[in-house]
Amino acid sequence: MVEHADRWSRWLLHDRFGGDELALQRTLEYLEPIRDRVLAAARITPGNEVIDVGCGDGLLGFSALSRVGENGEVIFSDVSADLLDRCRQIAAELEVSDRCQFIQTPAETLDGIADSSVDVVMTRSVLIYVEDKASAFNTFRRVLKPGGRISLFEPINRRYTELSRDSLFGYDAAPIDDLATKVRAVFEAAAPADGPMMGFDETDLFQLAESAGFSDVTVTLQLSSTDRPPFAGVPWNELMKIRPNPHAPTFGDAIDQALSHEEASRLSSYFAPLIDDEAGGRFRSADAYVAGVSPSP
Ligand SMILES: C[S@@+](CC[C@H](N)C(=O)[O-])C[C@H]1O[C@@H](n2cnc3c(N)ncnc32)[C@H](O)[C@@H]1O
Repeated sequence: MVEHADRWSRWLLHDRFGGDELALQRTLEYLEPIRDRVLAAARITPGNEVIDVGCGDGLLGFSALSRVGENGEVIFSDVSADLLDRCRQIAAELEVSDRCQFIQTPAETLDGIADSSVDVVMTRSVLIYVEDKASAFNTFRRVLKPGGRISLFEPINRRYTELSRDSLFGYDAAPIDDLATKVRAVFEAAAPADGPMMGFDETDLFQLAESAGFSDVTVTLQLSSTDRPPFAGVPWNELMKIRPNPHAPTFGDAIDQALSHEEASRLSSYFAPLIDDEAGGRFRSADAYVAGVSPSP
């Protein structure tokens, strides 16, 4: 299924962890607290109609089901037909299909979702891929009932890049800075400074939410650092199959593009033992949590 699936589905269901079980487990461990925080800020109550925008394989949506209860509903929406199929399949397995809708539509317009029809719009790491973020915020306001809430999470790549200049894979790259800089340049080229992934920060999200008419807007920037990088313990060959985002090359392809054979082997001789050792790493992240309320008329 993975080979024929669309780009989003291929990435979410395979490339983001390269098919490696440990990398998948680490990814899910990293996502759990984010999911719980987005759901808590959404203040979902039984009976609510909730939309998970850019639902992927349903990280937020399936957790929201227990909160909306038997009389509520979760709309899974995404641009990827393959990921919606995956959500349909999971819903059938969980026997919750009667409380789910699946709608293929972009965040910018949410076609098929009526005005003032949902209590909560929630999303994680979707606006980062959306060029016209203002339209997405205006649309979130359009579909929310008065008093409805947004709860969003987005990585702030601009800040992440600033914080990670001296590292690669979450490990200090200073001793081989010449090589790490060349590899990082391949990823930077895949995410231009003025493109949707890099061209915004937490202040933009705040202004976009306010401009769309939300009240009680809060944006919390979280900078974090951990000595347990997400790829710690992942074998080098497996790590090379991982694609850090859907628009980027795999680590292996980036290294092949950036470095000569001799340089690539110098890079792996330095990093592979560090990653294998699962010690001495420092992975930094920069993320924003956005909440707001659609005002009553
Ligand atoms: C990083 S994944 C996040 C998936 C899910 N929200 C999660 O937390 O696991 C990004 C998701 O956004 C979807 N997506 C990309 N562009 C979109 C757009 N313009 N409108 C709606 N969804 C979009 C992708 O198909 C993918 O499912």
